[in-house]
Amino acid sequence: MAARSGRAAMLLRKGPVLGLSPVPRRYLYKKKWATTSPRIPATRLALHHFDTTYSLQLQERWPAVRAAMLCEQKYGALLNNFAPADLIAQQLELLSATDFVSEAARRARCWQESADVEAERRKTSLEGSGGDGTMVPTETSPLLHASVSSNIKCYTFPRGDISRFRPAWPDSLGILSYYLMDAASLLPVLALNVQLDDLVLDLCAAPGGKTLALLQTGACGHLAANDVSFSRTKRLYHILNSYIPKEIRETVSITSHDGRNWGELQGGTFHKVLVDVPCTTDRHSVMEEENNIFHKMRTKERQMLPMLQLQLLMAGILAAKPEGEVVYSTCSLSQLQNEHVVERAIDIAETQFNITVHVEDLSHFRMLFQDTFCFFSGCRLGELVLPHLTANFGPLYFCKLRRA
Ligand SMILES: C[S@@+](CC[C@H](N)C(=O)[O-])C[C@H]1O[C@@H](n2cnc3c(N)ncnc32)[C@H](O)[C@@H]1O
Repeated sequence: MAARSGRAAMLLRKGPVLGLSPVPRRYLYKKKWATTSPRIPATRLALHHFDTTYSLQLQERWPAVRAAMLCEQKYGALLNNFAPADLIAQQLELLSATDFVSEAARRARCWQESADVEAERRKTSLEGSGGDGTMVPTETSPLLHASVSSNIKCYTFPRGDISRFRPAWPDSLGILSYYLMDAASLLPVLALNVQLDDLVLDLCAAPGGKTLALLQTGACGHLAANDVSFSRTKRLYHILNSYIPKEIRETVSITSHDGRNWGELQGGTFHKVLVDVPCTTDRHSVMEEENNIFHKMRTKERQMLPMLQLQLLMAGILAAKPEGEVVYSTCSLSQLQNEHVVERAIDIAETQFNITVHVEDLSHFRMLFQDTFCFFSGCRLGELVLPHLTANFGPLYFCKLRRA
């Protein structure tokens, strides 16, 4: 027979007290801690954890970020270029929504032009003063590396406007016109800057928002979309079937491998790799009980996340060709899951694989997209979008690496 618990055994050992007859066995009360102690909701545990860690990390910015995460998030409408996009764009513009990607591209062009004018002016003045006429870099030159794919179009309502898009409707061929997503999720895809005929790997692809955005560039030579979860991969199939015509879908290979082993399977193959890892999904964790990683039963899984993220990023780096580019992203504010993972990966790539990895400067994204998103300026590596009540997107961290 199974041994009785210490507490219950003690109760049973007690004899008659003050002449009373022993308590009949059936009335003995055994406290069931697991079922009777009040269960703290996972959302509350998440908020408590974030209050402790993010108040240190974000300091005076945390209360505003916290308030935004507890409010309804904002969406962007990623236009489907495989549907009659011009018509839909006109309809969205009538609602006062604007395409933030085209606006950033326009801004980048303006900077380019004014930087060219400034460079020309300096050149002329140097020539006039007896210089050798060599081009002098202007102060704005890092911004000119801005790479904004003009094919991706995503509409958002202006700052402070909390209007919502209505669900997308299918065209005569059954293809949906736009996909509603956190607009900040497009930034890792834009940072990847897919060029024509690039071989692209989306290592953790499901449910598929970023895969869909990668296909909107119209540039992928081949796209490998992988996700370890079969059930989530089904959602990826569903999204591709709803948005992408068959002939384009056939250029995408969908697999369900454990991404950590990808480097061994197909090392040194891809021009561009997106590593959009599982994380504490901060906004979800403070709002939804279902599938919440702060659930007591998932403590171990949560604690192991940085290790899983590191292994996935390493696999992504190994899957890239020499000179290939990797974008790492999470939807968490956590430094442990963001910069620390990137730093560890760079270190391991160098020491264990003799691969040098450089971090690409993406600070121009802050300037390009400042009208749409609220950025944190304190990241050591990479960029972080902070939720804010006037621009309630994110959190979204992304960092771009280039393999030497
Ligand atoms: C943040 S989600 C990806 C979201 C997706 N990129 C999108 O934009 O819709 C992280 C994904 O990683 C997947 N994942 C977790 N562990 C993995 C592993 N070992 N290998 C590959 N995928 C994994 C999860 O199933 C989950 O779908």
